[in-house]
Amino acid sequence: MRTKIVAGNWKMNKNEEESNQLIKAIQNEISTVNLSNTRVIVCPPFVNLSAASKTAKDSKIEVAAQNMHEAKNGAYTGEISADMLNSLGVSTVIIGHSERREYFNETDEVLSAKLKAVLENNMEAIFCFGEKLSERKTDNHLLEVGNQLRNTLFDLKAEDFKNIILAYEPVWAIGTGETASPEQAQEMHSFVRNVVAKNFGDEVANNISILYGGSVKPSNAKEIFSQKDVDGGLIGGASLNANDFAAIIKAI
Ligand code: PGA
Repeated sequence: MRTKIVAGNWKMNKNEEESNQLIKAIQNEISTVNLSNTRVIVCPPFVNLSAASKTAKDSKIEVAAQNMHEAKNGAYTGEISADMLNSLGVSTVIIGHSERREYFNETDEVLSAKLKAVLENNMEAIFCFGEKLSERKTDNHLLEVGNQLRNTLFDLKAEDFKNIILAYEPVWAIGTGETASPEQAQEMHSFVRNVVAKNFGDEVANNISILYGGSVKPSNAKEIFSQKDVDGGLIGGASLNANDFAAIIKAI
């Protein structure tokens, strides 16, 4: 059975105290929820990771990072390495979020290097991809996502996928209030699973968790999560509120 995952991407929100409070509030909300086969992950900003890891210790909540540099160490002002994250007990990291691609020029080439660094350091990646509105409108969404996957995943080995969570995030649905319909999400998730099956075999494809991200909220989570190939969500805005995030977790 595939693992279900609800991950909260906090982006550049919450200071240390707010971050700890939010983790405690989420934990409170989900303390009686049966989470067998379901992982709950939150991704605070780098500076809050150390405190957040301590706050989340012994809880049902895992703490992950939003980004990582591909180099081992060196003169990369402002960047954070795998070893730094590992030393805090943080071993999962989002790679390839569309905001990193768009605002920080992270190309497929850079993301491929980041993914390799994650895997070489025995960490786990939540790897994001998705099409822009213009590509969706011209019916090129499958082609675009197929290209992104080819450029970043195809030179990996089947065993690497044990440490990869995929996240389909249509750029037009992120932070816009607009969500992919359950059918649009299912179409893409099934396409992605087929691409993985073709290149790495059925076992890898059947076991990999594919999350949907883009304006998931309590009111639409259940319908999206009910789709056959949707194994959970990567939640932005709604993950900043404990009630909303807990409601989404309960919808899985
Ligand atoms: P959103 O963000 O839920 O606010 O649309 C999703 C994401 O960027 O991961």
